Amino acid sequence: MTVNTIRRDFELFRSVDPPVYFDNSATTQKPDYVIKACEDFYRSSNANPLRGLYDLAIDATDRYEDARKTVASFIGAGDPCEIVFTRNTTESLNLISECIASAVEIKEGDNIVVTVSEHHSNLLPWQRLSKRTGAKLVFIEPDITGLISDEEIDKKITERTRIVSFAHVSNVWGRENPVMKMISAAKTVGAVTVIDGAQAVAHMDVDVNALGCDFYAFSGHKMLAPMGIGVMYGKKAYLKKMDPYMLGGEMIEYVTREDATFAEIPHKFEAGTVNAGGASGLAAACRYISKTGFNYIRDQETRVTEFLMKEMYWIQGIKIYGSNDPSEHHGIISFNIKDCHPHDVASILNADHICVRAGHHCAQPLMQYMGIGSCVRASVYAYNTLDEAQRFIDSLSRVRKVLGY
Ligand code: ALA
Repeated sequence: MTVNTIRRDFELFRSVDPPVYFDNSATTQKPDYVIKACEDFYRSSNANPLRGLYDLAIDATDRYEDARKTVASFIGAGDPCEIVFTRNTTESLNLISECIASAVEIKEGDNIVVTVSEHHSNLLPWQRLSKRTGAKLVFIEPDITGLISDEEIDKKITERTRIVSFAHVSNVWGRENPVMKMISAAKTVGAVTVIDGAQAVAHMDVDVNALGCDFYAFSGHKMLAPMGIGVMYGKKAYLKKMDPYMLGGEMIEYVTREDATFAEIPHKFEAGTVNAGGASGLAAACRYISKTGFNYIRDQETRVTEFLMKEMYWIQGIKIYGSNDPSEHHGIISFNIKDCHPHDVASILNADHICVRAGHHCAQPLMQYMGIGSCVRASVYAYNTLDEAQRFIDSLSRVRKVLGY
């Protein structure tokens, strides 16, 4: 496997003078294989899945349920019925936080533990549950490089903890949280564990069974699949007890004028017409990533991140957030340049056809914790090259001069 072999699979990188795409944490590019899988569903198998009794609809249902099996195997879930298709990580986390109280008692005096580095998607839903139940929201505080100590985990996860929810990998620091240690601490006190895997699944071999978490949420579009398809993995025992999230078509068992009983899992969580084209694309992305291999993905990301961090070090006024060790960044480098607004930096890079994200990255409490309003984020994936990294460095080196410093 070489980076050039992979790049040939992407229309954007085959184009004349492609941009340097360093915004992979926001969304990845999609390979032909994934686009073709979505197209194939609509060209050859398009009927409403889970309803029709004719052959075409049965084929559509089979493709949708096969996609569920592929995703289950990709993340090591024991049973495909533990995979619920959603729109994205945000919807998965909202589903869990809205419905968990029907399976687990949460009341005043209890607490819900998150970290200060959560994306808003893994904070706002818990804020609402906390207000609704009277349970206190407790924050694990990492050090300023994003490292969470064992002492902090043991101090914050207590007998009162009912839920522990955190990002597998931070979308700003790129650092992997001590997942095993946090899950084990939560299990010791009988708390439910919810992992936001949005920034992890495309970058490392995630095995929910080995992790032992109760819930794991992620989006397709950050792992080469289309936008609009995501996953909520949940342990069967919880899913069976939880009330459904949305009510409507195909999630029922029987309906009378006054009442309804619900379908078995996972279908009771998938009201309305499902995104079968997206699910086909997500399954194709799982196959594509498995074939590419996490060893290659990790090596290439680390190679490019190492080069970037080594060269960025020489740029006047630069401050890189998180660990000094490139291998702890999972392709994410968030930074600021003294006296330069992140939006100006991103605009100057854009003038050189370089795509990065600038802003608060939907993690305002983390920005407050770091004492900044916003920052620039370059995020690389397995298809990015050292040549692109050099173009980024050349452009970034000119930023202060362009702004008149
Ligand atoms: N959640 C995505 C990001 O961090 C959009 O950029």
